[in-house]
Amino acid sequence: MAVIDIIKKAETKHDLTRQEIVELLKTDEHDAELFAAADRVRKQFVGDEVHLRGLIEFTNCCSQNCLYCGLRQDNVKLERYRLEPETIIEFASKAASDGYKTVVLQAGEGEFYSREEMLQIIKSIKALDVAITLSIGEKTREEYQAYRDAGADRYLLRIETTDKKLYEKMSPGMIFENRVRCLHDLKELGYELGTGCLVGLPGQTMESLADDILFFKELGADMIGVGPFIPNSDTPLGDATGGTFELSLKVMAITRLLMPDINIPATTAMEALNENGRMLGLQSGANVIMPNVTEGDYRRLYALYPGKICVGDTPAHCRSCVTAKIEDIGRSVSQGYGYRKKAAVRSMAKTVINRKLEIMQDIADVVAMNKEIGLGQDIAALVETEKYKQCEDFATKMNMELTVIEQKVPDEAKRAYRIRFKLAMMKGIEVFGEPSLFLQWIDKQADAFGGEAWRCLITSAEGLQKVIDELGRISESNSQP
Ligand code: 5AD
Ligand code: SF4
Ligand code: FES
Repeated sequence: MAVIDIIKKAETKHDLTRQEIVELLKTDEHDAELFAAADRVRKQFVGDEVHLRGLIEFTNCCSQNCLYCGLRQDNVKLERYRLEPETIIEFASKAASDGYKTVVLQAGEGEFYSREEMLQIIKSIKALDVAITLSIGEKTREEYQAYRDAGADRYLLRIETTDKKLYEKMSPGMIFENRVRCLHDLKELGYELGTGCLVGLPGQTMESLADDILFFKELGADMIGVGPFIPNSDTPLGDATGGTFELSLKVMAITRLLMPDINIPATTAMEALNENGRMLGLQSGANVIMPNVTEGDYRRLYALYPGKICVGDTPAHCRSCVTAKIEDIGRSVSQGYGYRKKAAVRSMAKTVINRKLEIMQDIADVVAMNKEIGLGQDIAALVETEKYKQCEDFATKMNMELTVIEQKVPDEAKRAYRIRFKLAMMKGIEVFGEPSLFLQWIDKQADAFGGEAWRCLITSAEGLQKVIDELGRISESNSQP
């Protein structure tokens, strides 16, 4: 399939094969089209609002040794810090009063806080009326359960790479299956689940990135963060090549096409490689930004990779900086908590609205067709009345009935049938004053036609026409002195 057709397929079907994803990743000829498609899907499914999550990096201590990461335990060059619970709560409280509706608590792995401390932190922050996202690594299911019970809403745990060999090479001592276990536990416990990957790890292939994207989809994650690997000279991978901004953006854009209704952050690491990285991200599928709300020198000390943005800035400065940038590209900052709006729920609401619009349209058609059908009544005047409103509600209620009946009507006759149906309902209510009396009358009419249920009259356009004719006669005789 031509690359442009793969993009089209992804935009309309939200589904691609591994091979198709690989083809997309391997060429950069149609990147502009890919980003534009992801931007359209983002707009259609999650809208123009950007959710801000205030990030608190509460300790840079870590007992793991990921080869790419500056926080790795063996990096003795890094000055370590561990914020006191009160400080964490204070930062969260400032974030909440600055208007953040989500606070993300991020840290390295390990037991640097007791369970009681963590629970206290979560409960205190929850009391600020914000959603809480935890990003504190692999834990037991029981621990995840305890945090969840205390009020944590979401959890971020990047799979980093789905290539088991590569994963275990990059994170010595860590076990791929346990990470997957964590993700499943979190999901089962009712967290909104965030995961994601690093792009450009040494030895990572396009096939492997395609697997990452398919893994996100299969897992049913609610949030996916994709960022370039940026080599850190204080780590064993200091001389590695690293990932590019463009490839990260592509992985992110394809993720949006395949998972149209999830939340996707324009990641901070993207901006470390491109000074407009986060806004380009927002214009290529992303709808979330995670400004740092950690204060002081801690920002610099949370040194995952070099070139980290905003290390010398204050939370207040970042907040207004990011708001201005978002508004500059014609988007707005969301005032909500920013939970994932699942497409299923949205599309149900949409169906109801569309149905209403359809009914309105049909009634407009009825008005236009009135002369043609020749009832001689001024339906336009009826539309202005309270009865019309009743009729509209009634027609909505009759909707189920109508859809069942309609299945039996041949396609080409459907519209004429539907219009007669609506017209009959409207006339019925006009003549009898209310739906129930009208239905009683139809039942009687059906008796006159051989004793069958009234439905026999309304299952065909002809039957309906009989009803309409009869209603017309009644209405005329009613209006005679
Ligand atoms: N470059 C980019 N991202 C990194 N992370 C860790 N080290 C690096 C690096 N050198 C990311 C990991 C981790 C997140 C907190 O930071 O993906 O999940
Ligand atoms: Fe620790 Fe996470 Fe860095 Fe690995 S990536 S060293 S677990 S902070
Ligand atoms: Fe921190 Fe712009 S977001 S300075």
